[in-house]
Amino acid sequence: MKHLISLYDLSFEEMEKILSLAEKLKRQNKEGIQHHLLKGKTLGMIFTKSSTRTRVSFEVGMYQLGGYSLFLSSNDIQLGRGETIYDTARVLSRYIDGIMIRTFKQSDVEDLAKYGTIPVINGLTDLMHPCQILADLFTVYEHKRTLKGLKMAYVGDGNNVANSLLHGCAKVGMHIAVASPRGFECDQSIVCEAQGDAKVSGSQILLTEDPVEAVKDADVIYTDTWVSMGQEAEKEQRVKIFMPYQVNSTLFSHAKEDAIFLHCLPAYRGYEVTEDIIDGSQSVIFDEAENRLHVQKAVMAILMG
Ligand code: CP
Ligand code: NVA
Repeated sequence: MKHLISLYDLSFEEMEKILSLAEKLKRQNKEGIQHHLLKGKTLGMIFTKSSTRTRVSFEVGMYQLGGYSLFLSSNDIQLGRGETIYDTARVLSRYIDGIMIRTFKQSDVEDLAKYGTIPVINGLTDLMHPCQILADLFTVYEHKRTLKGLKMAYVGDGNNVANSLLHGCAKVGMHIAVASPRGFECDQSIVCEAQGDAKVSGSQILLTEDPVEAVKDADVIYTDTWVSMGQEAEKEQRVKIFMPYQVNSTLFSHAKEDAIFLHCLPAYRGYEVTEDIIDGSQSVIFDEAENRLHVQKAVMAILMG
């Protein structure tokens, strides 16, 4: 494992290794045990989109591992003024030990990895959000003590989070049902990749326009914003299309009684999810947000250690 660009690139064993190291680092963290696995190492964090969780969890994670992180906003570095990815990758590789990047194009993340000589971590693109889904799977595991054979239902936009969720569930053998309106489905090539992995892991993949069908007997219900970063101009039109996909108590009642609720956050209460669900007893969204820290520390320790 040289980079974390897409969950599809990881083997099942690599996923397991990340999740079990995350569990250990979380436990040690709670016990006050320091683990300076990246002493003296530096992570550069390039952001061309906003972030709360990704920025803070990577920065704090690096600190807890004994290393240092640099916040590189595209407004401030020359990349934002047209310097090439090629030159940026070559230059940063001379200074730092790893790059985390949040940006629009998946190909920019791939090019950074191709031209640089240090590990690259995808902190979200328009196409994928692998770090989020590692935290999600870890959270499900903490609450259910297993992943294989459980049913995940994702309801809403077939966006970056949904794409990586397909990759992740197929890899670990979780069944996944995605309900999204026509025209807003998951990326077709990612669906094909996930179907390939699902054959090996025993995961069943259901793609539907019907949220009730997706949620039926689910162990986990997941949703995300209807308006991702960069889509702000489409908000009015999207809200109309997605309203039937709102996760509310009626929809939730079709899941298993002990189903948990996940949301990558930021959330928009009253749109993709109602307040009673996201703030209710079955919601584990803040465990999920916390777990970004632990899984990303595991990823960095593996890639940069
Ligand atoms: N879930 C997530 O990636 O949050 P941020 O956009 O705040 O980083
Ligand atoms: N789908 C959302 C996820 C935010 C963490 C977006 O891309 O804006």
